Amino acid sequence: MPLSFDCPLVGISPRSLDCLIKIIIKCGDFVKNLLFLIQYILKPRTTGAVLPSSKYLARKMVAGIDFSAARCIVEYGPGTGVFTEEILSARSADTLVILIERNADFCKTLEKRFGGYANLKIINYSAERIGAYLQENGIEHADYIVSGLPFASLPKVASQNILAQTKKHLSPSGKFITFQYTLLTKKFFLGYFGDIEIKYEIRNIPPAFVLALTDLS
Ligand SMILES: C[S@@+](CC[C@H](N)C(=O)[O-])C[C@H]1O[C@@H](n2cnc3c(N)ncnc32)[C@H](O)[C@@H]1O
Repeated sequence: MPLSFDCPLVGISPRSLDCLIKIIIKCGDFVKNLLFLIQYILKPRTTGAVLPSSKYLARKMVAGIDFSAARCIVEYGPGTGVFTEEILSARSADTLVILIERNADFCKTLEKRFGGYANLKIINYSAERIGAYLQENGIEHADYIVSGLPFASLPKVASQNILAQTKKHLSPSGKFITFQYTLLTKKFFLGYFGDIEIKYEIRNIPPAFVLALTDLS
């Protein structure tokens, strides 16, 4: 059968090329999911989920961000970068994005995916150190902190430290946005913030609540 020369570079038709690209993207998802599952097996308490969050949940996580006003957005626990992708595609070019991920393997994936972006810092450490990373970048307060941290499975002291540091380093008009699979931790968050807005996303495994916390007074 003669080769099609519709696509001069590889000798396959644009339709086949399109299919091939879709397969490669799907394989990329498969690799990310496998990496996530392996990390869950190795570090269940800090990984906190067997799969990365869905695109639907990611979109809901960033829907309440005013990207035109945000000067600095911090993300805790980006994992393989599903929320990061949404943040980077919507942010203004001069908005600084700081990713804080304690798992070195996830950091390597984040470097591979986003390493070339300007105004993006990828930090392999714990969210508890947010203050030091803001200071290093000459920032007093973050405007938004988006969290993928599994508060339900983290040690209580670690969660308390992270929430105390979050409160300290978030702008008074800022928002802390997190997701949880149940609302059991709602009271814990309200110990640090005055207001909470809750949304639900069923198109995630498992379905999840998005909690947007404000009012630091
Ligand atoms: C449930 S996964 C969420 C990953 C990603 N945001 C998503 O939704 O697919 C939790 C992530 O938090 C990271 N993590 C756990 N404790 C952390 C800490 N103290 N500081 C920074 N990252 C942490 C884990 O390594 C993991 O990547």
